Amino acid sequence: MSGRARLTVNGKTISATRGETLIEAGLSGGIVIPQDCCTGQCGTCRVDMLSGGIDPAGTEEDGTCLACQARLEGDAEIRFDPQPIAMKTGGLVAEVNELGGEIVEIVIEVTKPVPYLPGQYVKVAFGGFPERDYSPTLRLDGVREINQLILHIRRLDDGVVSSALGRGIVPGKKVKVRGPFGNAFLRQGEGRLVLVSTGTGFAPIWSIAVAARLGQPHRPVHIIASARDPRNLYMRPAIDWLAKHGVANAVLAASGANPLPPARHGRAIAFLPPLGREDTVYACGAPEMVDEIKRIAREAGAKCHADPFLPSGGELPVTKRIARFFGLGKPKTSPVHAQLESLAETLGRPKS
Ligand SMILES: Cc1cc2nc3c(=O)[nH]c(=O)nc-3n(C[C@H](O)[C@H](O)[C@H](O)COP(=O)(O)OP(=O)(O)OC[C@H]3O[C@@H](n4cnc5c(N)ncnc54)[C@H](O)[C@@H]3O)c2cc1C
Ligand code: FES
Repeated sequence: MSGRARLTVNGKTISATRGETLIEAGLSGGIVIPQDCCTGQCGTCRVDMLSGGIDPAGTEEDGTCLACQARLEGDAEIRFDPQPIAMKTGGLVAEVNELGGEIVEIVIEVTKPVPYLPGQYVKVAFGGFPERDYSPTLRLDGVREINQLILHIRRLDDGVVSSALGRGIVPGKKVKVRGPFGNAFLRQGEGRLVLVSTGTGFAPIWSIAVAARLGQPHRPVHIIASARDPRNLYMRPAIDWLAKHGVANAVLAASGANPLPPARHGRAIAFLPPLGREDTVYACGAPEMVDEIKRIAREAGAKCHADPFLPSGGELPVTKRIARFFGLGKPKTSPVHAQLESLAETLGRPKS
């Protein structure tokens, strides 16, 4: 495909080459569309397709597409919500606080405040460790200083970064931060907000919930915070804060075992209220749950913004996926893991 076409982005029209991705087309006219991975994983570049010649390259969802994958076929118009421009800053770990179960709260004091929208994520590299994505949030009493980034991180036994929390990663550790990124941020609007999280997916959900109660108090909030292990229901103080701020519909749920009341036994999906076109759903955390919620929301005609916590390599390795399917906790050290490795090899896929 060759030739020129006109692309209008947020009202500004530029000339671009047919066949380019929307991000490339925008750049050729001096317009930067928000982006991060540029591989179709992170969703940061999701834009509304308003009209015209776009091949969404299989990324279409409710009239939107991923601008890093979709290609310009003819004259077209797109839009995206304004959001802070990604920046870089440094900082120091100020606090490492155990929140219960496997969850750790990290407080970073940054040199320059990072302006992010509730629900966005940043990239953090603790000194000497690889960069990871985290969703900045608030302390569980709803407070954050402007020069702080508060993170809720789940400690994984075999996690390169998370297993070092409180060991190599301690107060005084240097930190580099880039961001913000991500498209699952709170927008202005009407209608009920349905907020669903698994595990530390509560970090962005908590940020959204507080901003919504304080900034859009006319919108009813229905929140479901879940974890597999009841010990990871670290968000009880936050649910109390929401109750004091008028949120009557809050469910805490654990799927792995019976949690202490008022938390309930079951998966987040089991407590989803009936959805309608007037609802806006935010789903954050385990990719499987996020996908399921997206499907249910789409079928109900509700808007849905999703933030799947994909591992840093993108997809979970095949052995990890099979192990998780069978509910195996730590396959790397078990004999079952050896069998899974051999199964992965037989299938001709990469080992974990
Ligand atoms: C947009 C985004 C926002 C995120 N926000 C947060 C956040 O606020 N808090 C938080 O705790 N995490 C968050 N994550 C996940 C985080 O970026 C890391 O992937 C996670 O903390 C593991 O890093 P690690 O170095 O400890 O483990 P790795 O060394 O990267 O992985 C160790 C092992 O754990 C597996 N693994 C990695 N991540 C997961 C996972 N999510 N579920 C199951 N198995 C996994 C890997 O496959 C590997 O086998 C987010 C991810 C994304 C994409
Ligand atoms: S930049 Fe397009 S999906 Fe990440």
